[in-house]
Amino acid sequence: MSADGSIPLARPVIGPEEEAAVLAVLRSGQLSLGPKTVEFEQRFAARLGTKHALAVSSGTAGLHLALNAVGVGPGDEVITSPFSFVASANAILYAGAKPVFVDVDPVSLTIDPEAAAAAVTERTAAFLPVDIFGMPARVDILENLKLPIVQDSCEALGAVDLEGVPVGGRGHPSVFGFYANKQMTTGEGGMVTCNEGSISEVIASERNQGRAVDMGWLDHDRLGYNYRLSEIAAAIGVVQLDRLDGMLAMRTALAELYAAALENVDVGIPAASWEGGTRGWFVYVVTLPNHVNRDAVILALRAAGVDCKPYLPALHLMGHLAEVSGSRPGEFPVAEAAGSRGLALPFFPGLTEAEVARVAESLATAMTNASGA
Ligand SMILES: Cc1ncc(COP(=O)(O)O)c(C=O)c1O
Repeated sequence: MSADGSIPLARPVIGPEEEAAVLAVLRSGQLSLGPKTVEFEQRFAARLGTKHALAVSSGTAGLHLALNAVGVGPGDEVITSPFSFVASANAILYAGAKPVFVDVDPVSLTIDPEAAAAAVTERTAAFLPVDIFGMPARVDILENLKLPIVQDSCEALGAVDLEGVPVGGRGHPSVFGFYANKQMTTGEGGMVTCNEGSISEVIASERNQGRAVDMGWLDHDRLGYNYRLSEIAAAIGVVQLDRLDGMLAMRTALAELYAAALENVDVGIPAASWEGGTRGWFVYVVTLPNHVNRDAVILALRAAGVDCKPYLPALHLMGHLAEVSGSRPGEFPVAEAAGSRGLALPFFPGLTEAEVARVAESLATAMTNASGA
């Protein structure tokens, strides 16, 4: 609970261990390009079972670099999901390519693999599936189509796919994000996992202004960016990795508490798993029935001290993305329905059982008042 008695949507778990780790870096004098970044990367790769993990300044930066590294460029098309956070589609634009949206599966809200296969043209350079709300997309099916895959796993740390592989561990570049509402945080930050040495080398160079790891200071042989993660952030990441299993378990337990508390409330509750695997719980998004006015529910919940957000507006209807993709309203009905009826409720380790009950009661009351409003 916040000081004013309201319940926030998200809150990071930060303790004395993170404080000590940050202080140690500050006192070391090495604030960038140092041992904490290497330690963070090695531990992350070991956890997911990949050969490489590259720390970057954000999930968005990681998506941009991963698309560059698999060879996406101007004139290319990248097939992706319209039900995502805007960064997944924006990264395609950064690479000079065009996002080609296809609709999503109604249960997982991840890209429909059949629709993705049907959208392939001679210009298709890659697929960019999104493990939205932590649910694993069917990348196993996309792999059969023999095109590069960049997986947006920014919301999916802790998810496991249908073959028992941790999401992000299949070998193609997968990108994680560490913004403060994520399963673990570094404040801002991200990580790209992959198995191929050549892809790892491109990402390592481009995140550091186009300087390969074996090149000297002020030596650059390709266009690069400053997408580095600081040592301060990496040190927080190392401590958060120590906490990660506990934090993931708390999220899973909370989802179970919510499912029980909402049993008699007329909302669709999110599935813990589907045919593609098991969710790594990130947000708790319920689906309101059609007759309930979502905006009115949001206002009522906030007035009752319960933060909440509409999740997520469909990307293909956003101005710049509608323009570049040529998408129209009504084109992706599953994504649009989910986008117009989803509501994210407070969800973070430390949320108590009593607070979950309060959220459920406030939601039920708000929905009764907002029915037909
Ligand atoms: C699905 C998805 N993709 C990409 C991102 C971008 O990550 P970041 O905010 O670290 O740039 C996020 C996180 O906010 C996300 O949820």
